[in-house]
Amino acid sequence: MANSLIYIFLFLLITPLELSTAKKCFFTPKYEIHVINNLPSDSPPLKIHCQSGDDDFGEYFPSINEDVNWSFCGNLFGKSLYFCHFWWDVKNKTFDVFNDKETCVKDGQIQYFSRKCVWIVKSDGFYLGHYNDNGNIDMYRYTDWS
Ligand SMILES: *[C@@H]1O[C@H](CO)[C@@H](O)[C@H](O)[C@H]1NC(C)=O
Ligand SMILES: *[C@@H]1O[C@H](CO)[C@@H](O)[C@H](O)[C@H]1NC(C)=O
Repeated sequence: MANSLIYIFLFLLITPLELSTAKKCFFTPKYEIHVINNLPSDSPPLKIHCQSGDDDFGEYFPSINEDVNWSFCGNLFGKSLYFCHFWWDVKNKTFDVFNDKETCVKDGQIQYFSRKCVWIVKSDGFYLGHYNDNGNIDMYRYTDWS
């Protein structure tokens, strides 16, 4: 009897913690990163490889207009960092897609931060944006391919 009460107690103690890692963040904000392939449809395929210290999403070829996205819980004490390597035709580029909890990237300019960082890959470079209240993406060119 005493044993089963202890098990029930442990079960109650452990279950919410397990759910929290899967569904929502406990005490830390949830962030979302999107990478959208907005290259011309008749162009060579885009290859991306995004990773962090803990996650490696592997190499991936997003189709035109595909939205590749993932979410993570902001680290309360340490810092979160994700970076991607992009290849397109003879070009390639690597940079951090998240390293700042307020502006996605330290040198990013975002008027209103929704905790959703949107990277749009175009032929003239990489645009950083966020969803505005209408669900549209406000963006500006962050860097070019070279
Ligand atoms: C995020 O990625 C999933 C596939 O992992 C896709 O089904 C979903 O449409 C994407 N989200 C957006 C906003 O496009
Ligand atoms: C990336 O492009 C540079 C030239 O900008 C080239 O020197 C380098 O070998 C390329 N790296 C990869 C992994 O494709």
